[in-house]
Amino acid sequence: MSHGLLKGKKGIIFGALDPNSIAWITAERVFEEGGTFVLTNAPVAMRMGQINELAEKTNSKVIPADATSLEDLEKLVSDSMEILGGKLDFVLHSIGMSINVRKGKSYTDQNYDWTHKGLDVSAMSFHRVMQTLYKNDAMNEWGSIVALSYMAAQRVFPDYNDMADNKAFLESVARSFGYFFGKDKKVRVNTISQSPTPTTAGKGVKGFDGFIKYADKMSPLGNATAMDCANYTITLFSDLTRRVTLQNLYNDGGFSNMGVSDGIMDIIENS
Ligand SMILES: NC(=O)c1ccc[n+]([C@@H]2O[C@H](COP(=O)([O-])OP(=O)(O)OC[C@H]3O[C@@H](n4cnc5c(N)ncnc54)[C@H](O)[C@@H]3O)[C@@H](O)[C@H]2O)c1
Repeated sequence: MSHGLLKGKKGIIFGALDPNSIAWITAERVFEEGGTFVLTNAPVAMRMGQINELAEKTNSKVIPADATSLEDLEKLVSDSMEILGGKLDFVLHSIGMSINVRKGKSYTDQNYDWTHKGLDVSAMSFHRVMQTLYKNDAMNEWGSIVALSYMAAQRVFPDYNDMADNKAFLESVARSFGYFFGKDKKVRVNTISQSPTPTTAGKGVKGFDGFIKYADKMSPLGNATAMDCANYTITLFSDLTRRVTLQNLYNDGGFSNMGVSDGIMDIIENS
């Protein structure tokens, strides 16, 4: 159901890989709410070609950009402003990748080249994106920038591996850059800490099936879906949340404040 919350707003959406991607579902919702945008992903992800279906559905253009390349980001931002006809109102950073996770290296046996790459892609890229937007004065006043995080930034989830550190870095960058963006440009910056969600990145984490069931049983409202995340993001892009900034906002059915739930106790007691 559309409320026209993003009518006339323009932006960039990073990270729509396939129809399960949180960014894909968010792009569909932004379109429904009247927003226009450029879609972007790493050139290697484009080869799978699915993003073009989304572009067609949402009347948007696709510009490839590796989020670790300043050159790609410069081009993305200037081309997007040209295509969309002016400065931007919203940006979604929905990017995450750990080679240690992908290759099954445990946290106590890191390949540091991979750790470095994962940090660059998953966290430093958020600084790069914001620095590019800031230096090019690419955001309209009262614009909104959102990145997606996970609560392993605060609490221990052993199999989330080096992604936990990447998310802690990401959330810190949101606060630090958010200060300058707020003071100098009246732009807000937040992260959404999302429940485990069955996407390509999510399912790559070892033991994901147990992980997602556990979170669901622990949360009084159950896990937040990708659609829930998309809807929350819409509110943060809208004018209804103009002074929400520097926050890490939990979209997790209540999981982050739980100790134990009846559902989990039943399983433990009956085991
Ligand atoms: N799925 C979950 O359980 C979950 C939970 C909390 C937070 N998140 C976060 O949500 C975000 C989106 O992930 P998702 O779950 O939708 O999975 P996804 O696999 O659909 O999306 C990850 C995206 O990152 C992109 N990417 C990887 N390297 C890149 C690079 N160098 N340049 C540009 N883009 C690059 C991929 O192409 C992909 O589109 C990530 O930040 C992820 O950590 C996911």
